[in-house]
Amino acid sequence: MEVARTIAETRRALEPRRSGGVGLVPTMGALHDGHLSLLSAARAENDTVVMSLFVNPAQFNERGDLASYPRDERRDLRLAEEAGVDLVFAPSAEEMYPPGFQTWVDVVELGSILEGAFRPGHFRGVATVCLKLFEIVRPDRAYFGQKDAQQVEVIRRLIADLALEVELRVCPTVRDADGLALSSRNARLSPEERERALALPRALATRDRESALRLLAESEGVEVDYVEVADFQPPVLAGAVRVGGTRLIDNVVLDER
Ligand code: PAJ
Repeated sequence: MEVARTIAETRRALEPRRSGGVGLVPTMGALHDGHLSLLSAARAENDTVVMSLFVNPAQFNERGDLASYPRDERRDLRLAEEAGVDLVFAPSAEEMYPPGFQTWVDVVELGSILEGAFRPGHFRGVATVCLKLFEIVRPDRAYFGQKDAQQVEVIRRLIADLALEVELRVCPTVRDADGLALSSRNARLSPEERERALALPRALATRDRESALRLLAESEGVEVDYVEVADFQPPVLAGAVRVGGTRLIDNVVLDER
């Protein structure tokens, strides 16, 4: 497995590998089984698998959240290698956002509802970094998790609107045995907070907005940001809650009703 720190190195490494199909899995590291499921889908469908590992400052609307985001590059590189990744692109913030950087891509409407309403600028950061990663890696396929349903929808719109030549592949949400969707932020939950956080998947599992809101209202120590039906592809019941200082999002697909 190669590790490239610069855009130039990445392009050079990929040049001879274009013919057999290139799959890209964008990540911010702190890898868990959700990320590994994307890597395994990419491994099955492409001759070359690229994982990006970049904690993108532009998509964090709170400094504290960025500062406390879990980072363990050595572990991430080991897991990536075990998953059969060919190339990891792990740039510095300066490599991705050079001095004078001022070009942004904003998926205007989709980026301002739900998560976007609570995290101003978040999807602008996501869309900009993903477009730049697509341009650097030029993947045939890019892999995203259904866990972040609105992110998938933003990327789908970005690809359609700018006629990008990349196929969007979406993988199902991976959950722990108790139903909590895997997330790098789960590590911040104390055992009691984790127990409380289970209210979110349990509420969404009703697949009904009113029932979900009722269940969450009865749950102690759980603050609801929103629970909404979102007309995505496929439609989902999506929710965001705060437990202690940790913000959690989750969704369930609604076309199985
Ligand atoms: P990150 O949170 O590291 O997630 C990387 C990918 O893993 C995303 O596509 C996300 O939806 C997926 N993922 C996370 N948890 C999952 C789970 N439990 N089941 C299935 N997939 C899961 O999402 C980002 O990074 C960033 O916004 C990024 C796209 C890398 C742009 O910076």
